[in-house]
Amino acid sequence: MSGRRRASRPSRRAPGRVGASRAARPRAASAQAASGRFVVLEGIDGAGTTTQARRLVDALRERGVDARLTAEPSAGPVGSLIRLALARRVVVADAAGSRPPGWATLALLFAADRLDHVEQEIAPALAAGAVVVCDRYDLSSLVYQSCTSPEGDGALPFVRAVNARALRPDLVFVLDVPPAVAAGRRAARGAPPELFERDSLQARLARGYARAEELVPGDRVVHVDGAQGVDEVFARLLEATLGVLSGADGPGGGAARRSRRR
Ligand SMILES: Nc1ncnc2c1ncn2[C@@H]1O[C@H](COP(=O)(O)OP(=O)(O)O)[C@@H](O)[C@H]1O
Ligand SMILES: [Mg+2]
Repeated sequence: MSGRRRASRPSRRAPGRVGASRAARPRAASAQAASGRFVVLEGIDGAGTTTQARRLVDALRERGVDARLTAEPSAGPVGSLIRLALARRVVVADAAGSRPPGWATLALLFAADRLDHVEQEIAPALAAGAVVVCDRYDLSSLVYQSCTSPEGDGALPFVRAVNARALRPDLVFVLDVPPAVAAGRRAARGAPPELFERDSLQARLARGYARAEELVPGDRVVHVDGAQGVDEVFARLLEATLGVLSGADGPGGGAARRSRRR
């Protein structure tokens, strides 16, 4: 996968719109959140989203941009509960013992955290004109919950429905990394594996991220070869982000973006 290059699907949407690609979505937050830019980083566990989100925010700040770093699960109350669930410290007790909450329960928790996160942090920052860089967003919900549901893609309508009011990002980076590379990075990190950090699941998640454009139709998705070194990945991210900030990749930039090799 490391040699793969894929240009993004063009987007003509105004920044920070709610559910823009899906008809009849509520747009209550759009006016409030219209002035900043909302950038999301996605990928399997060990893809490098946390590393790159930090670097991107640092680089934007060095250029005088008001950049804010945030992540999902958020630091808020529901996000804290999700982090406990990921660490296997929130379980369902049944006759067979204890097990993690089911995929639909987790989907609801992630969606609740997301709306709280948008309301509490993301929308106000965008309204203040900031660039918000978010380590994971609703593409994670679509990929992880569908890959952990026995219904597979049958889970997607439910996940979409509960995220219908989630503000749309201006730019979604997908760091594509072979599962074996990501597994090596996670092992080097040394932390105990979280709920989703199983190699068999990670391979399915990677296939889910490979079709990100189908999962978030209308969002501006940019795939980046995340198997490269940190500096090389970062250079791609910064270039694409600055393009969006300058407007060079904005309305009218879709054709150029389609032909650009990343
Ligand atoms: N491009 C890269 N090349 C080599 N190592 C990387 C790269 N990106 C991240 N890492 C390392 O891999 C580990 C996982 O990165 P991290 O950013 O935490 O991934 P994620 O947040 O996607 O799980 C970290 O130890 C990080 O330093
Ligand atoms: Mg991370």
